[in-house]
Amino acid sequence: MRALTWHGKHDVRVDTVDDPEILNPRDAIIKITSTAICGSDLHLYDGYIPTMQAGDILGHEFMGEVVETGSGSTLKKGQRVVVPFTIACGSCFHCGKQQFSACDNGNPADNQDIGQTLYGQPMSGLFGYSHLTGGYAGGQAEYVRVPFSDVGPIVIPDGLEDDEVLFLSDILPTGWMAAENADIEPGDTVAVWGCGPVGLFAVQSAFLMGAERVIAIDHFPHRLELARKFGAETINFEESKTYEALLEMTGGIGPDACIDAVGLEAHGFFVDNVIDQIKASTFLGTDRTHSIRQAIVACRKGGRVSMPAVYGGIVDKFPLGAFMEKGLTLKTGQTHVQRYLPALLAAIMEGKIDTTFLISHRMALEDAPKGYKLFHDQQNETTKIVLKPGMLAA
Ligand SMILES: NC(=O)c1ccc[n+]([C@@H]2O[C@H](COP(=O)([O-])OP(=O)(O)OC[C@H]3O[C@@H](n4cnc5c(N)ncnc54)[C@H](O)[C@@H]3O)[C@@H](O)[C@H]2O)c1
Ligand SMILES: [Zn+2]
Ligand SMILES: [Zn+2]
Repeated sequence: MRALTWHGKHDVRVDTVDDPEILNPRDAIIKITSTAICGSDLHLYDGYIPTMQAGDILGHEFMGEVVETGSGSTLKKGQRVVVPFTIACGSCFHCGKQQFSACDNGNPADNQDIGQTLYGQPMSGLFGYSHLTGGYAGGQAEYVRVPFSDVGPIVIPDGLEDDEVLFLSDILPTGWMAAENADIEPGDTVAVWGCGPVGLFAVQSAFLMGAERVIAIDHFPHRLELARKFGAETINFEESKTYEALLEMTGGIGPDACIDAVGLEAHGFFVDNVIDQIKASTFLGTDRTHSIRQAIVACRKGGRVSMPAVYGGIVDKFPLGAFMEKGLTLKTGQTHVQRYLPALLAAIMEGKIDTTFLISHRMALEDAPKGYKLFHDQQNETTKIVLKPGMLAA
């Protein structure tokens, strides 16, 4: 089959690789009909995530048709399913607490030592996201093997287009959990750093959870425009100083809740960001953490900080004093996708959440390398790229 494979920094290719096979009774094989490129994939593309190997198949946002099932799968051939990016067994200690992205069984034992050493406990399994998270082949391909197919995939009813439901695989539940983690109360003012797909879904979710005002921050005019369409006020950090603008907009108090939807590749010519960038490029550091630092400093006393954004390493210049002295709370994590699927599918069907507005490009799988370059280099216009394996290359 054809699949998008990683070969190094800014080097992804569509190669012919072996077809996936059923390995365990609970597996299913899915024929991919739609798969998206994620902001998290850019961290791989830019070479920031360790333990990648040449030839790894990328992709963790995908859906398609069930074509083969193991004896323990509950899926049936011909069903259309969206697959969560988190691989979870459904029955371990963490899955029992609905903390699916902390599943102890999704990541094969021989890969667990890496996470144990880096983070104190092994990471769970994720599709197409390095050997730290299991080394699973991802779904930017014609076919993919889905482990624990009796737990993760959600069957899509007839009448819904791929474009309407594809983002259930990751960014929609991620934006939703980001807002949930912000513990929003009616009347709250919520600030969201980053108007990428995750930030934009966090904006929509925050309003649905009762926020009175949402203030969205970015520097790409088109992305800010999309946030305004959902009712957010906006700050362009190249035109105004974010901290000062937030204080002014909140009567000097600061936002009640702050959501960091930027992550380890923060943009902007800020002193801390420039130092982070130099450290990352000289292998003295890993993450550029400007936005989470700023969220903590801007947040009102007693407020809540939610961090769906991905970070990977150990950071410095972290405003721990501000965090403690102001009595803030911080919630974060890879999304527990499986927990949110039924309710979010229902919200899409009821028209409460719009997902298709985000798609700026639909491309053939064969054109995926062009898609990565576009999503990386032209973020203003490129809000989300959906790859269609069935489509003819341009
Ligand atoms: N927790 C999870 O399970 C999960 C799932 C999906 C994505 N993510 C992470 O969420 C983050 C966002 O994902 P995305 O797909 O929206 O990515 P994206 O790269 O499309 O969007 C990030 C946005 O942040 C903006 N930005 C950069 N620096 C900024 C700054 N200093 N202030 C304000 N905005 C700034 C960028 O201009 C961009 O629009 C990434 O780190 C991604 O890895 C986490
Ligand atoms: Zn993703
Ligand atoms: Zn589990």
